[in-house]
Amino acid sequence: MSVSEGLDVGDEVVVDVGPVAHGGHCVARHEGQVLFVRHTIPGERVTARVTERQRSFVRADAVEVHTASPARVTPPCPYARPGLCGGCDFQHVDPAEQRRMLGDVVSEQLRRLAGLDREVVVEEVEPVLGWRTRMTFVPGPTGHLGLRKHRSHEVVEVERCWIAHPGLPDVLAHDDWESPSVEAVVSSTGDTLVVADGPVPDGLETGGVVSLNGRRREGRGGVTEEVGPHRFRVTGSGFWQVHPESARTLTDAVMEAGDVRPGDAVADLYAGVGLFTAPLAEATGPSGSVVSVEADHGGTRDARRNLHGFEHVRLVDATVEAALRRRLVGERLDVVVLDPPRTGAKKAVAGIVALEPRTIVYVACDPAALARDLASFAARGYELDGLRAFDLFPQTHHVECVAVLRRTASAPD
Ligand SMILES: C[S@@+](CC[C@H](N)C(=O)[O-])C[C@H]1O[C@@H](n2cnc3c(N)ncnc32)[C@H](O)[C@@H]1O
Repeated sequence: MSVSEGLDVGDEVVVDVGPVAHGGHCVARHEGQVLFVRHTIPGERVTARVTERQRSFVRADAVEVHTASPARVTPPCPYARPGLCGGCDFQHVDPAEQRRMLGDVVSEQLRRLAGLDREVVVEEVEPVLGWRTRMTFVPGPTGHLGLRKHRSHEVVEVERCWIAHPGLPDVLAHDDWESPSVEAVVSSTGDTLVVADGPVPDGLETGGVVSLNGRRREGRGGVTEEVGPHRFRVTGSGFWQVHPESARTLTDAVMEAGDVRPGDAVADLYAGVGLFTAPLAEATGPSGSVVSVEADHGGTRDARRNLHGFEHVRLVDATVEAALRRRLVGERLDVVVLDPPRTGAKKAVAGIVALEPRTIVYVACDPAALARDLASFAARGYELDGLRAFDLFPQTHHVECVAVLRRTASAPD
C-alpha cells in the first residue's frame, strides 16, 4: 500500500506492537503500512495516533494501552507523555527492560549493517534518574524555561526535569532570562556553571556564568572534573560526558580494551579535553607517545592545560580527517582510540587502518554509525574482538558502546 492511501496525521489505529527499533520507538504494522510507535513496549496492544507521515512509514504515539507489557511502569515525570517533552523515550519502561531493549537495538544494528551475529548485554549504570550533569533548556511561550517536544521546535515549559542532576544550578526557578538557551552544569567536584546570554536572574546560585559564544564571563568560566587521579578543566559548554559515572566507566573500559604497554605509540582521536589521553599517556610512559586530536579549539586549549604534565603527549588542533590526511598523527601506531560524535568516523576509517595499529578501541554513542564503521574496518582487515555496552543515558534511547578491534590481516594498499 502506498502512503498516499494509508494513514494520515491524527489517525488512530489499534496495533500489536513488534520489536524495538533504533530511535526510541517500536515497530508495528497496519494493513501493510509500517508504524514507528513511541511510548510503547514490544508485545503490547495499543491505540497508536499518527504524528508524522513519511514516504515509507508513519510515526505515531501510543495514546491508549489495551494490553500492557509486564515491564510497563508509570513514568516518574509528568512531562514524559505523548505530545509533551521529547527528552526521554523510555520512562514508561522498567529500567532492566530498557537495557534489554537497548541491547536488542545494538544487536540488530550489528546484524543489519555489519553482518555480525552478537547478543549484546547493556550494563547497568546508577543512577537512572537525576543523572544529567549538563542540561540545556530553552524559553517557552510564557518565558519560563522548558524542553523541546519530540522532533519539534515547540517548547514544553517544565517545573522540574527528572533526569537532571539535583546539583545543577536551579535555572528552572527563574523566569527572567534573556538568552535563547540556558545550559546548567555541575561537575564531579561540585563546581557549577551557567552558559547563557544576558543578565543572570537575581538570587540564582552558580559558580560562574559564561556567554553562549564563550567571550563574556562572570565568576568561574569553567568547571573542574575529576576521574581517578586526573583533573580536567572544561571551559563553558565544552564537551564532557554527561552521566556522573560515564567518565570513569568509559575510561576503565577503554584502558582494559586497549591493553596499552609501556613504550607504545598511541592516538586518541576525537579527544575532547583529554579524558582518555591522560590515562593512555600514563600507560605508555615517557618511553612511548600519545597524539591527541581534537577539532574544537576550546577543547584543545583545555586539553593543553589538562595534559601539561605529560611531555610525551602531542596535541593536534585539527579535524581527525585532516590530521590523518596530513600525516600529523604519525606513520605507524600500536593502539588507536577513537570516540567520534554521533555521525561516526566514516571518513577516518581508511586513514586509521593505514597506521596499522594492533588494536583499535572505538567508543560510540550511536550503534548505527558504529555498525556501519565496523563493516568498513572489517573490509580492511580489522575484526570485532569484543564489545561492551553501557546504559549511560538512562530513560532515553541512547546507549554507549566500547568496541575493540584486532588486526587479522595486513591492510590492503
Ligand atoms: C563524543 S566526544 C568525545 C570526547 C572525549 N573522548 C571524551 O570522552 O570526553 C567527540 C569529540 O570529537 C570532537 N569532534 C567532532 N568532530 C570532529 C572531527 N571531525 N575531528 C576531530 N574532533 C572532532 C568534538 O568536539 C568532541 O570533543
